[in-house]
Amino acid sequence: MDSKRLQELTKPVQADLTLFDRRLTEFLKGDSPLITSIAQHLLKSRGKRIRPAFLFLASRAAEYYNEHTVNASLAIELIHTATLLHDDVVDNSDLRRGEETVNFKWTNLISVLMGDYLFAKAFRLMVETSSMALIDAISRATERVSVGELRQIEETSNYDLSEEEYLKIIADKTASLFAVACEAGPILARQNGRERRRFAEFGEKIGVAFQITDDLLDYVGSARVTGKEPGNDLITGKVTLPLIYSLHNGDRAKNKEILRILGNGVNKGCFMKVLKYITETGGIDYAYRRAAQIAREGLDAVKGLQDSVYYQSLRGMVDYSTSRAA
Ligand code: IPE
Ligand code: IPE
Ligand code: MG
Ligand code: MG
Repeated sequence: MDSKRLQELTKPVQADLTLFDRRLTEFLKGDSPLITSIAQHLLKSRGKRIRPAFLFLASRAAEYYNEHTVNASLAIELIHTATLLHDDVVDNSDLRRGEETVNFKWTNLISVLMGDYLFAKAFRLMVETSSMALIDAISRATERVSVGELRQIEETSNYDLSEEEYLKIIADKTASLFAVACEAGPILARQNGRERRRFAEFGEKIGVAFQITDDLLDYVGSARVTGKEPGNDLITGKVTLPLIYSLHNGDRAKNKEILRILGNGVNKGCFMKVLKYITETGGIDYAYRRAAQIAREGLDAVKGLQDSVYYQSLRGMVDYSTSRAA
């Protein structure tokens, strides 16, 4: 259902996405039997391609598409995939995209090294664009992903985490790549200054909204649809917006009881208890509202764009990012 919706929304850039897929398959043809089998696993359990979709739609909507656009999209998607290979080790996840994770199917070591390999491949594609500005922007975004992931580790099981700190962490770990995906069009068209900044601002806000929704799905999603095991965030001590809101707004006695449960280490059984508490104290509703609000701010940044099928799709994609089930 959700994948149909995404397919419908990305129809205007279907040809770009098809070319993207063809180039990706070619580019990952193995340098070794192990690399080939992991690459096949990654290509089979393909992701949503949401960053390339934003990149193509934003580039087309503002007529910035050029011969380097596909390389930019491939570099960003490879970096995204590399961060997932590392993230699944960090989060000790065994399910991704409805399939076993690389760390589960192979080992942690192999997942980390394959992630490094994908980073290296991405660098080569970036350099092929010959755009120092793009190389600079993608490198900075990648650095932000690492800062965000490390900050998140530092804040593991910190149940005092503020909404502001949380938003800063997810902006770094997730919105950074969305921002550079949306900014790649203007960068490659040598647009600097305000024009470039508004696309970056658009991507940044959508990325934050997308991650808030991802964190919500860890509470309310189903593995059958998301392809990831829910509850993993709470079990690994990742404090996200629904819980932050509830702990700041629930009544004191109840909060104390929840903090006691969390302090003892969460398993599947108490996950349901915490979820009930968060739902009843309005944490789920609040996070949905906040995601929608931030996404709207993102749309404001590009509201001057001329109307086109691409612009209409971009608007639909913003909605999708905050109401998706997968
Ligand atoms: C997963 O990203 C990691 C987050 C930033 C939430 P996606 O949901 O885009 O992952 P795939 O590529 O579609 O699997
Ligand atoms: C996003 O965080 C991962 C990165 C930005 C690397 P999550 O840990 O929430 O992503 P999922 O839920 O595992 O896809
Ligand atoms: Mg994870
Ligand atoms: Mg998640």
